[in-house]
Amino acid sequence: MSSEPKPWAGRFTEATDAFVEAFTASVDFDKRLAPYDIQGSIAHAAMLKRIGVLSEEECQIITQGLEQIRGEIERGEFSWSVKLEDVHMNIEARLTERVGEAGKKLHTGRSRNDQVATDVRLYLRHEIDRIIREILRLQTGLLDLAEREADTIMPGFTHLQVAQPVSFGHHLLAWYEMLSRDRERLLDCRKRVNIMPLGAAALAGTTFPLDRFYTAELLGFDRPAANSLDAVSDRDFAVEFTACASLIMMHLSRFSEELILWTSAQFDFIDLPDAFCTGSSIMPQKKNPDVPELVRGKSGRVFGHLMSLLTLMKSQPLAYNKDNQEDKEPLFDTVDTLRNCLRAFADMMPHVRPNRDSMYNSAQKGYATATDLADYLVRRGVPFRDAHEIVGKAVRLGIETGRDLAHLSLTELQRLSATIGPDVFEILTLEGSVRARNHFGGTAPDQVRAAVKQARQRLEEVAKT
Ligand code: ARG
Repeated sequence: MSSEPKPWAGRFTEATDAFVEAFTASVDFDKRLAPYDIQGSIAHAAMLKRIGVLSEEECQIITQGLEQIRGEIERGEFSWSVKLEDVHMNIEARLTERVGEAGKKLHTGRSRNDQVATDVRLYLRHEIDRIIREILRLQTGLLDLAEREADTIMPGFTHLQVAQPVSFGHHLLAWYEMLSRDRERLLDCRKRVNIMPLGAAALAGTTFPLDRFYTAELLGFDRPAANSLDAVSDRDFAVEFTACASLIMMHLSRFSEELILWTSAQFDFIDLPDAFCTGSSIMPQKKNPDVPELVRGKSGRVFGHLMSLLTLMKSQPLAYNKDNQEDKEPLFDTVDTLRNCLRAFADMMPHVRPNRDSMYNSAQKGYATATDLADYLVRRGVPFRDAHEIVGKAVRLGIETGRDLAHLSLTELQRLSATIGPDVFEILTLEGSVRARNHFGGTAPDQVRAAVKQARQRLEEVAKT
């Protein structure tokens, strides 16, 4: 049995069972909310002063006390107690220990229910901003590389079979686009995160004439939550964030998969810097793409957290339930995992070295310009279905004789279709094929350069906001 008095012990006649005390405590993981808890408490105190619940002096004492506690925590001098259950009661108890009577007044018109919901939202808002900065860094790296590689030709794939040649820069810009949507989704999610629960108290609001709009303004929230029951109970904002995070991890996992394939000897499209790879303890020749492999693997835990949070919420009656304490570990791990994965990718991107010859040679192997030949025939009046058939035969001839389309003779080609002229060899080259897809969103190197330019302008606008 524990002997430490609880802040809520008044109605209890027995002490908490020692195991139950440890089982129900959250301080081991929610102490990372401390800076936001303090920030929220300082704003709450300022509002209580404004409405006359705290005197000027009490507010000052409380604020100074909380600032000192912030220092203790930052210096690692704060002694966290499981007996005080969570971050909120640890800080409040320490405040009263430090400043006496005034500290006991801080919790007026407030409950841990609206306090914790506020803390989590302040935390998540801060983390979303950090994550967005990492996405922007990764996107900038992609644009730089895409611009350098606008003229680099690689095979584009469908079904992982060579399909049509594309600019490597264009391929990289596909990743840029996915990350743009990811960033927009996070910004949109942030709007719903940035609503203040404080003032909802336990569930029904409070008898004190709180100025919630004032507290919201002090904390940089867009507005106070409009319904007290909703404010303390829902964690949909955490689910939504984790869904956004899952999509980003899904993208990073696909991106990882390509990097892993491309570094293999079979593809040999790129080199990753040694600093981002590791060796094998037994095979001396090995250089493994560990960073992308880990990122691919870590997508699983984030998807898992999304399921955890959805399941956590799905049967909860209004309003607050202790279940909600279980929101923190999945959310924190999602934030950490996502930020670290983005950071690794952003750090790695400027060091990705393409093997241009290898990409080019590979694009030459799979009859990648077959569609160009079909389009050429269509321009000479052959219906597309017939053109498809003719080119199919040309490909078969190529396979049988071990040659690419560009290496078939004019006579051989004309035997398949008399409309073919000597100009056909221009469109059968990889360069000609890529250059010909010269429209908005296409792979022509000029389009890639224009897309990079536009994307840079967009990023500059984003940086201003
Ligand atoms: N540690 C709790 C949580 O994370 C704080 C809120 C506790 N409220 C309560 N009524 N027991 O949800």
